[in-house]
Parts: sequence; C-alpha cells; structure tokens
Amino acid sequence: MKSVFYSRFFILLPWVLIVVIIIDIDTRRPSNSSKAPTARYYSPYWRRRIGRAALMRPQPSDTSMGTWTTNQEHLTSLDSHSGKNNSLPIIYAITPTYSRPVQKAELTRLANTFRQVPRLHWIVVEDSAQPTDLVRRFLAGSGVRATHLHVLTPRRYKRSGLPRATEQRNAGLAWLRQQYKPQRSAGQSPAQQEYPSGVVFFADDDNTYSLELFQEMRTTQKVSVWPVGLVGGRRYERPVVENGKVVGWYTGWRADRPFAIDMAGFAVSLQVILSSPKAVFKRRGSQPGMQESDFLKQITKVEELEPKADNCTKVLVWHTRTEKVNLANESKHPQDTIKIEV
Ligand SMILES: *[C@@H]1O[C@H](CO)[C@@H](O)[C@H](O)[C@H]1NC(C)=O
Ligand SMILES: *[C@@H]1O[C@H](CO)[C@@H](O)[C@H](O)[C@H]1NC(C)=O
Ligand SMILES: *[C@@H]1O[C@H](CO)[C@@H](O)[C@H](O)[C@H]1NC(C)=O
Repeated sequence: MKSVFYSRFFILLPWVLIVVIIIDIDTRRPSNSSKAPTARYYSPYWRRRIGRAALMRPQPSDTSMGTWTTNQEHLTSLDSHSGKNNSLPIIYAITPTYSRPVQKAELTRLANTFRQVPRLHWIVVEDSAQPTDLVRRFLAGSGVRATHLHVLTPRRYKRSGLPRATEQRNAGLAWLRQQYKPQRSAGQSPAQQEYPSGVVFFADDDNTYSLELFQEMRTTQKVSVWPVGLVGGRRYERPVVENGKVVGWYTGWRADRPFAIDMAGFAVSLQVILSSPKAVFKRRGSQPGMQESDFLKQITKVEELEPKADNCTKVLVWHTRTEKVNLANESKHPQDTIKIEV
C-alpha cells in the first residue's frame, strides 16, 4: 500500500512542479493574451507577438504606437507660442508607481513639477495587471506629455528586502527601445546607429525635484551624476569630484558599492540606453541597494561619469518619504453616500 502511494507520488511530483512553473511564468503575461490591447496602452509583452511588420521608427511625438500622449496638441502650441526651444534634448522621466492611499497625491506633486519642464516626456509605469482608471484619468488631465504603461511584479518578488520597481523601470526602458527601434537593414550594430538626442531619468514618485535639476541633466552626454539629499541615513550623499572627475563617493551606507548612488542621482543619455539594448535592472544576483550599481556597471565606468550641479556641490533632488497615512478610522464599508477617488 505504502509503496503504491510513493510510486504515484513520485510520478505526479514532476508534473505538479511543471504546472507550478507554468503558472508562475504565466503571471508575467497579461491574462487576455489573445487580444491586443487598445492603442492607448502599451504593455511590453504584446508587441513581440505583433511581429516586425508593425515596427517602425516614429518620432517621439508619434501617437500611433501605443503611446498615449496627453494634451499633446495643446502642449505643442504652447511650446511654439512661448518660443520654447524645440531642439532641446527630450527628457524621458520613468516613474514606477503602484496603487496606495497616497498615490494620487504623489503623482499630483510630480506633475506640478514636470509641467514646468520643457520637452519632458513622462513614462508612468504602473505595477498592475491592467492600467487603472485613476492613473489614466490623472494623466489625461495632468497637462504633461505622458505615456501610460503597466506591468505586474510577479508575486514572488513582492517581498520586503527585495528591490522594488525593477520590472516597471525595465518596461520603461523596453518602451523607449521599441519606440526608437533601429532599422537593421544596413546591418549596423546598435552601437553604430545614430540616435536622437535625449536623456533618460528614473523619477520615483515620492522624491522632490528642483526645476534646476532638469536644466543640469539636459546636457548629459553619456551618464551624469549629482548629489541627492536626505538619503542613506545622511543629510545628503554625493559623488566626490576632483578636477572635474568623479573619484569616489561620500555616502553613509556601503561605500564599497561600485556606484554608491541613489536612483535619483543620475541620468543616462538616450543614445547610451539605445546602443546598449541589453542593459536592464536585474533581479537575479542583485543584492538590495545594488540596483543602481548593477545597472550603471553595464553602461559606464566611474571615471566617465559627468558631474553636474556645480561639480556635485549642490543638492537639487531630495529623497523625501511621505509619511505613512493613518487610516485607522476608515471603516471597512465606508458609510458615505458617494464614492470619491482620493
Ligand atoms: C536651442 O537649443 C539648442 C541646443 O541646446 C541650442 O544649440 C540652440 O542655440 C537653442 N536655440 C534657441 C533659439 O534658444
Ligand atoms: C568643475 O571643476 C573643474 C576642474 O576643477 C573646473 O574646470 C570646472 O569649471 C568646474 N565646473 C563648475 C561648474 O564649477
Ligand atoms: C480616530 O478616532 C478616535 C476616536 O474618535 C480619535 O481619538 C482618533 O484621534 C482618531 N484618529 C485619527 C488618526 O484621527
């Protein structure tokens, strides 16, 4: 009796494991896989199935590629009327976000900053299986040129101690690379292509950004760096600069990191992002707090970094944290007669 049980058990075990693995892989794809999303949304996974025929090289203002660009005509006319410089490099700000009580408040604060920055394209990446109405409506009324993406973090990565927003930042990078997909007919390698000028910056939704920061990062040639305030258990962290070159890091935490810098402390030129198509944020083998180093290692060296903010002597961005809201008196079934989005 016992041996029958064991033999069945061992025959079934591999199949159970296979099913578990398939379910796990499947949660990384959108559930309605047979249906291509509407043009308004872009999920990094569906374009692969559409194939190369659909691929072309649009201008950043192209709306036909699943880019959802808000208020664009309005912004364009504003730009030309106020004489804004249309040859400025575009700043792409990639913002991972997730649903929580303070989400709309944080996004509002960010939009109020970004609205004042010329030639900024906001890439908002939700950690969700579907784009939420809250973020969609918010971006539509934000007055910022924006693209709304979403990708769900697999459940096995939603543990404390693991890096956050990895999938969302990578989805932002994948979208950019898709937008500027090179035509390989000439047989060129990505490194030989000519790319438009632009700057990519990872703008978490809880930080505070001075407008001057965007002027500084706009001139990034490869990878630029600057100090970040209120981070690492110190008033600030900064790259140490000698003779215009980064030679080390002033930091309160793990100074042995190859790039001891916060996500808010650097920007990368679009050319570098596009010419190193394999550079992504890593889950595998990445220790907590090493996301930045693991990413920058793939695209640059410390001695190549371009110090901004007066040779890294000014704090123009702060790693602020919104206090956890107290909802202790919120009832499970709110008694209000109307439903309000907060
Ligand atoms: C626009 O920006 C480019 C690049 O920064 C600069 O070379 C050009 O002089 C600027 N033009 C105007 C009208 O400000
Ligand atoms: C940074 O330092 C270098 C070398 O000391 C100097 O030439 C340059 O003018 C400085 N830049 C700024 C913006 O202060
Ligand atoms: C919740 O309600 C209790 C009792 O009315 C009050 O004492 C408490 O201050 C409230 N909590 C918050 C955070 O407002």
